Amino acid sequence: MARLWAFLLAGLLTAPTALPAMAAGATVTLACSGLGIASDLCRDGARSWAERTGNEVRFVSPPKGAGEQLALYQQLLAAGSADIDVFQIDVVWPGILGAYFVDLRETVDPETIAQHLPAMIDAATVKGRLVALPWFADVGLLYVRKDLLDKHQRPAPESWEELQETAALIQKAERAAGNERMWGYVWQGRAYEGLTVNALEWIASRNGGTIVDPDGTITIDNPRAVEALTIARGWINSISPLGVLNYMEEEARGVFQSGNAVFMRNWPYAWTLVDGPDSPVRGKVAVVPLPKGGPDGRHAATLGGQLLAVSKFSAHVPEAVDLARHLTSPEEQKRRAIQGGANPTIPALYDDPQVLAANPFFADLAKSIGSTVNRPAQATGMRYNQVSSEFYSDTHEVLSGMQPAGETLARLKEALVRISRGGRW
Ligand code: GLC
Repeated sequence: MARLWAFLLAGLLTAPTALPAMAAGATVTLACSGLGIASDLCRDGARSWAERTGNEVRFVSPPKGAGEQLALYQQLLAAGSADIDVFQIDVVWPGILGAYFVDLRETVDPETIAQHLPAMIDAATVKGRLVALPWFADVGLLYVRKDLLDKHQRPAPESWEELQETAALIQKAERAAGNERMWGYVWQGRAYEGLTVNALEWIASRNGGTIVDPDGTITIDNPRAVEALTIARGWINSISPLGVLNYMEEEARGVFQSGNAVFMRNWPYAWTLVDGPDSPVRGKVAVVPLPKGGPDGRHAATLGGQLLAVSKFSAHVPEAVDLARHLTSPEEQKRRAIQGGANPTIPALYDDPQVLAANPFFADLAKSIGSTVNRPAQATGMRYNQVSSEFYSDTHEVLSGMQPAGETLARLKEALVRISRGGRW
């Protein structure tokens, strides 16, 4: 593990620059949201910074869904508003919002930057400018009810096909045994960014590409992608409830945590909650890599995560940068990993015994992180959100049974050609 990280970290540094002067007594406004208890973790971390530095922090709670959050940020920033100093942003937004944020390479020392995973630093870099600091990484994981697998003598699924079969078998048996509400598989099927993430995992696991390739080529109209969506369409109302078409992360967790699903796709944050003291499924859950697509497929987990960016319009840039640096520091990332299962973006923390004790599956996370899939945010830049919206809306129609996958993806390709003005992102 340590070797893997060291390898990923190689060769990152740029020239050091001076830190800006910081005065006590400023009020810095921070927008942080988060799944599960993430928002409390954020507030605790910011309060300890305020106490230490003699500044104050005001909190803004952005809307829950990624799309609504982005729309609000775009509106504020396009108007040049100084209302928010530090923004929590999704790993896929730097290309969209980066021009509104300060270049942190000018103020944060290179050693601090070099602590982070290169993949996260890359995601936060737009045209050579570091527009945010990595805060935590997200990796798609499969949560399994190991007690039910043992009871029904099934292994954890290696492929989506196996998942489907095992989910159907256990769902049927558990319903017959009295739990009418049991479902096989819950995930994020609402028409929003989370569906882009899930569908990308199905497609990439069959080697069906990443919608748009890193070089800008539109690849979504291919038989493997059609197959992936068609298979997923077959889950609705069989192993997954119809309601999954309206689920985000927390809805899926609600069903799984109350004991009514065999499998769940979710991010690492769900672990501390499903295995928490109040959880009905505490001690019954394991975390494994997401299944492969067919015999020659691969494990494909989407890389998600959140970054902290400082607004160019802030009246307190030095304080805002210092707050972002504090929240993304090794000490804070360690605390968040232990208390909230947040995946550090600082590789060294994956060898920390306390972090591993709280999150036993982190030791194996290299398996998932080694095969993470990136959404085409870098390749599509400013247009990523349009690309993702088209993709999740079309996918949602396929899953709802309104459109066949083949025709839909052919039309999606045409739409992406138009959005990219013929492939020139
Ligand atoms: C998580 C991830 C983010 C992703 C979102 C989708 O917040 O960190 O990258 O876009 O989920 O719902």
